[in-house]
Amino acid sequence: MEKGPTMDLGMDRWKYYGITHTDHTVMNPLSLEKTRELVGLLRLPEGGRILDVACGKAEFLCLAAEAYGVTATGIDLSPYTIKAAGRNVEIRGLADRIELLHMDGGKYQPDAPESLDLASCIGASWVYRNHRGTLEVLKKMVRPGGLVLVGEPFWVTDPDPEYLELTGADSDLCGSHAGNVAIGEEVGLALLYTLVSNRDDWDRYEGLQWQAAERYAADHRDDGDVEALLRSARRSRDAYLRWGRDCLGWAMYLFRKP
Ligand SMILES: C[S@@+](CC[C@H](N)C(=O)[O-])C[C@H]1O[C@@H](n2cnc3c(N)ncnc32)[C@H](O)[C@@H]1O
Repeated sequence: MEKGPTMDLGMDRWKYYGITHTDHTVMNPLSLEKTRELVGLLRLPEGGRILDVACGKAEFLCLAAEAYGVTATGIDLSPYTIKAAGRNVEIRGLADRIELLHMDGGKYQPDAPESLDLASCIGASWVYRNHRGTLEVLKKMVRPGGLVLVGEPFWVTDPDPEYLELTGADSDLCGSHAGNVAIGEEVGLALLYTLVSNRDDWDRYEGLQWQAAERYAADHRDDGDVEALLRSARRSRDAYLRWGRDCLGWAMYLFRKP
């Protein structure tokens, strides 16, 4: 998983994640199939307004716009990812309903508070400091009865200190699965649903990164970043295989604002 802005990759972080996520449709460990299932649960109103902060390639927004008559805003800070999002939206014929903004999600303010039908942030809770901060900000953006959706990791078991050292993560990167739900309830949201990644989902999410990094390195031998790319990608792969696969979970949390 991306660990937020603190991890030292030895190269431009946007380029690193751009390369390692070349083959991903959704840039998080939930499968596309489960993402579709999740979209089917949203029951968004005709003419609704939705926002996805750190939207990646805008796949979630495209699926939501294809399923419901909504208009959407997607925000992402990576120049590589927002470009891929633009291509995705264009190919799907959704450019008239999905607006994409290349900016820091933390600086975005909707036109009016409590106006959106859904606000989401999937896999980037550092934008609002942490899981709690993200839920607090998104809650203020949605109307009463609106939805808040976040994708967040959770510890399945206590992480090994060696794992934390190798990945640059803190043990407070996340809480438990039940803890992530409890924080939502403390913030005043009602839990509607959770969808959890299984091993296949995780293996796909991680493995696509190894493959993309190795392929890029083989095809771009003259790129001065290849050494750093392979070092970081292989370090992340080894940490996943040795520890992450057992200790780290991932889930989508769907809440309703009362
Ligand atoms: C783990 S990926 C998830 C992407 C997308 N939500 C998905 O699930 O497919 C994290 C995303 O956060 C974006 N990001 C990181 N920091 C950001 C920030 N401050 N503001 C907006 N986007 C940011 C990255 O470019 C990346 O696309």
